[in-house]
Amino acid sequence: MKSLNFSRATKENNQDRKFIRLNLNESSLDIPNGLKKKILEKLKKIKWNRYPDESNPELIQALADYCGVKEQNILLGNGSNELIQNIIRAFGDSGKIILFKPSFSIYAQEARIQQRLFLEFPLQPGRGYQAGSWLEKLTSASLIFLDSPNNPLGCTISPKLLQMVLDKTKGVTVIDEAYVEFSDGSFCKWIRQHKNLIVLRTFSKAFRLAGARFGYLVASEEVVDRIRKVQLPFSVGIFQRVAALVAVSQKSLILKYAEKIKSERERLFHQLKDFKNFEPFPSKANFILIRSRKFSGEDVYNFLKQRGILVRIFDLPELSNFFRVTVGTAKENYYFLKALKSLDQETKNVKKS
Ligand SMILES: Cc1ncc(COP(=O)(O)O)c(C=O)c1O
Repeated sequence: MKSLNFSRATKENNQDRKFIRLNLNESSLDIPNGLKKKILEKLKKIKWNRYPDESNPELIQALADYCGVKEQNILLGNGSNELIQNIIRAFGDSGKIILFKPSFSIYAQEARIQQRLFLEFPLQPGRGYQAGSWLEKLTSASLIFLDSPNNPLGCTISPKLLQMVLDKTKGVTVIDEAYVEFSDGSFCKWIRQHKNLIVLRTFSKAFRLAGARFGYLVASEEVVDRIRKVQLPFSVGIFQRVAALVAVSQKSLILKYAEKIKSERERLFHQLKDFKNFEPFPSKANFILIRSRKFSGEDVYNFLKQRGILVRIFDLPELSNFFRVTVGTAKENYYFLKALKSLDQETKNVKKS
């Protein structure tokens, strides 16, 4: 069996302040202190010796309102990673799982761990999701995962192509909308017409709560019930629940920063376009994929790391000269651009660390 590849990014202490962390697509800005205080005050009033209230009507109602669906269409998870694991447990055993390469690595990792059969179809930077031979494989598929925006390409799937997918398959289609708040639109409301569609969401990105570990999914009641059956009881603790409730209740305050990230992303993209050795790809997420014309991804990673900046590289041969940078604060982006500019102007080979 192939060894599991945890990125070098996750091996580093993620709370260590010495680096500018542009490697995990988190928010560079923490949630406001006033909201942290609110979360702690609410937590003080809850009994910590008791298991959490799984019905949690206030939170579920707030999420249903946010997504424009009914409460019975919502299922909470310990981060969306846990939900991915449970979706594969619930639906991945009766046919092949269709995946794209590259896409969020946990789909393939989890399919492998659960010893499910899966097929991976290539996606190309700059082209994104296109109709192709993979559509024919959908008739015998049990599950298909589409991250939209895709991680790491930043592209989204068009409504027309998603409709083709849904028309072709009797299996379950998962649209992973981890980055949807940085994008143009959601497919959540499609679950009203499509019983086998799951929309996956997280509070780790635009909601700035990666440390809390909270995700949820939106699907038909039948699908929600089936996944709930394979989920371990009480997997979402009281801290996640309270943090998510406070965050969603204050969504206009928290999501204001996502708007800033979107404009920073465009600014960064346009500045990167002027570099001679680097090519950025348009993105609808909080990161940009960049092709290096002269250096390997690893060389770029090492060069930037020596200057205190972490970016993400990939263990895929087709992305060996690519790296992904998370859009940070204006100051972080400035330091990133400055460091990359010096590499852009480098005439010698870069030193390996
Ligand atoms: C497409 C995608 N889905 C899901 C996740 C994981 O989210 P969570 O933190 O909720 O487990 C990520 C994290 O990077 C991601 O890129």
